[in-house]
Amino acid sequence: MSDVVGPQNDPTVAEADSRWMRRALAHACRGLGRTTPNPVVGACVVTADGVVVGDGAHERAGGPHAEIFAIEAAGARAGGGTLYSTLEPCSHIGRTGPCTDRIIAAGIRRGVAAMEDPYPLVSGRGFAILRDHGIAVTVGVGREEAVRLNQPFLTAVRERRPFVILKAATSLDSRMAAAAGERTQLTSAAADRHAHYVRAQVDAIAIGSGTLLVDDPLLTARHVYRERPLTRVIFDRRLRTPPDARIFSTLPAGPVIIVTSRHAQSAQRDRSDALERAGATVLALDEPTMTAALPALAGLDVQSLVLEGGPGVHRAAWDAGVVDYVQLYIAPVAVCGSHGGVAGTDAPSVVLGPESMLASLVEQRVRMLGPDVLIEGYVHRPH
Ligand SMILES: NC(=O)c1ccc[n+]([C@@H]2O[C@H](COP(=O)([O-])OP(=O)(O)OC[C@H]3O[C@@H](n4cnc5c(N)ncnc54)[C@H](OP(=O)(O)O)[C@@H]3O)[C@@H](O)[C@H]2O)c1
Repeated sequence: MSDVVGPQNDPTVAEADSRWMRRALAHACRGLGRTTPNPVVGACVVTADGVVVGDGAHERAGGPHAEIFAIEAAGARAGGGTLYSTLEPCSHIGRTGPCTDRIIAAGIRRGVAAMEDPYPLVSGRGFAILRDHGIAVTVGVGREEAVRLNQPFLTAVRERRPFVILKAATSLDSRMAAAAGERTQLTSAAADRHAHYVRAQVDAIAIGSGTLLVDDPLLTARHVYRERPLTRVIFDRRLRTPPDARIFSTLPAGPVIIVTSRHAQSAQRDRSDALERAGATVLALDEPTMTAALPALAGLDVQSLVLEGGPGVHRAAWDAGVVDYVQLYIAPVAVCGSHGGVAGTDAPSVVLGPESMLASLVEQRVRMLGPDVLIEGYVHRPH
């Protein structure tokens, strides 16, 4: 725990800090997939004699912060206690008042936080205000876990783009479909359920126009609980998306954004208008590259995005260095040769091939989903 900063010299204090922070982290999980554009945060208040008197989680944007829930639950018992929070308490007036005011007013004696909030309006000010009011502050307890929980928020604040999950289903011979221009169901119902569970957590799903034209997918989160709209993104530089695509029958599930070029929009004004009449938001950029499109999406409150393919947009994202996490579902089937002789050799392949892509993953996890194998991990160590 060498990166912990603040009063924590006593090993029994360090042990108690870790234990209570784990509790705060567990509460933070209640907000996963629900708080954009805010971070997920958990908190608890513990009295000087080690009794938990209040718990809290930030459950949705605009709702009270975790620290406020915990302090309110503690009531008068918060006085003299320690507040554990998975992120630096805020010090500014956003949709709610500053948490630091409430912490000071409650008589909290010590604050323990997992990490500083990089959001420019906070960024160390929360800790400074607490210290100025005589509250001891310890930072860094449970940092690694807190960082993992908030990858979408941290990526959006630091890099001004969404956290990108590259998702692909492949055959044993690395194909994403049996032939070019063909839709192939490769994975099992168990793998599909997992993919929909992921869709339930993210802010957006994205595909390229190639997949839209071949698969005509709905891109909804099915058989999972989701309480807020799911943004669907189609990367389509030539505006090939037909206005009668099935996705436009799912608008109650969330907005459909078509990312295209200004040039295509002005050259095909009728198509652009027809897509808007069908319910699309046409996002026309000078340069509709991944590097330009992702910050534009972050500006629309997309902090996490699962890039479901196909290989065209996977490669563009990989080459632009914007893939943060990979989820590869491998089905125990071989595709090449399945169409008789040479047929199938034009089948779209997963980008980079599983070997090189997977070898570089950090914190790699492997598990079975029915007959399929899911291999997932971060592209870079979360920080
Ligand atoms: N197994 C799986 O997990 C999976 C998932 C999805 C798709 N698929 C399969 O993949 C096949 C389609 O492959 P695909 O490569 O054509 O699909 P794709 O990646 O979805 O679409 C490719 C198209 O995206 C457009 N695009 C927009 N912005 C781009 C950018 N910055 N860089 C590159 N392309 C960009 C390009 O058309 P413009 O130049 O017109 O913009 C390009 O032709 C289908 O057979 C489908 O069934 C498989």
